[in-house]
Amino acid sequence: MKKIGLMGAMKDEIAPLYEAMTDHREETVGGVVFYEGVLDGKDVVLCCAGMGKAQAAAATQLLCSHFCVDAVLFSGIAGNMTSKVSVGDVIIGKTLVYHDGEPRMFAETAPFLQEFASDEKLIAAASAACEENGIRHIVGKIATGDCFVGDSATKNSIAAKCAPDCVEMEGAAVAHIAAKNGVPFVILRAMSDDADEEGFEKLVGKPFDISDYCRTAAKISRSLIARL
Ligand code: ADE
Repeated sequence: MKKIGLMGAMKDEIAPLYEAMTDHREETVGGVVFYEGVLDGKDVVLCCAGMGKAQAAAATQLLCSHFCVDAVLFSGIAGNMTSKVSVGDVIIGKTLVYHDGEPRMFAETAPFLQEFASDEKLIAAASAACEENGIRHIVGKIATGDCFVGDSATKNSIAAKCAPDCVEMEGAAVAHIAAKNGVPFVILRAMSDDADEEGFEKLVGKPFDISDYCRTAAKISRSLIARL
């Protein structure tokens, strides 16, 4: 893979990757700042897309058609929905789904999919990267929607609808647009909370330092890139 697109939704999520890059060149397209450079010997384009599906989709399209990346790697945090892992552990998205919206209607046009599968080779590289760094992880289902899930009623209704392993706000949109462009992708998420009232208090209710989780996600991204 010649050029890899790296994305996060928040500044904290991309900061550890930005700091590790060399030869930074900056270009703003469509209101998004993209940093081209070299990370561990690989050509990369890094951006902070902003939160939510629309911003994730827009930045993914630019990575694919303006920067012509050969793969897209999203790294960030998520709310845990499974007992298989805990806060601090990582979920690698095998499949990405929307828990809101109308996936059946979305699938009436290309790429005609209601769920999106990460690239098998990128999943294998991500799993190996977690193992190398001693980070507990599973390969599972990630559900995306335009809200922070911070109450048990919403969490339970999402679980009943699509039984994901974690919930976040960008992955399926990144996956959807990467798939539409025929570009392989993988989504990595470090668990920052349990998508419940406590998680809401921790992440939304008061300022909270998420840099530890972001560093975990970024560490795996770097080991993964080194394997490509
Ligand atoms: N990102 C991190 N935690 C989340 C949550 N509980 N809901 C949605 N996105 C998240």
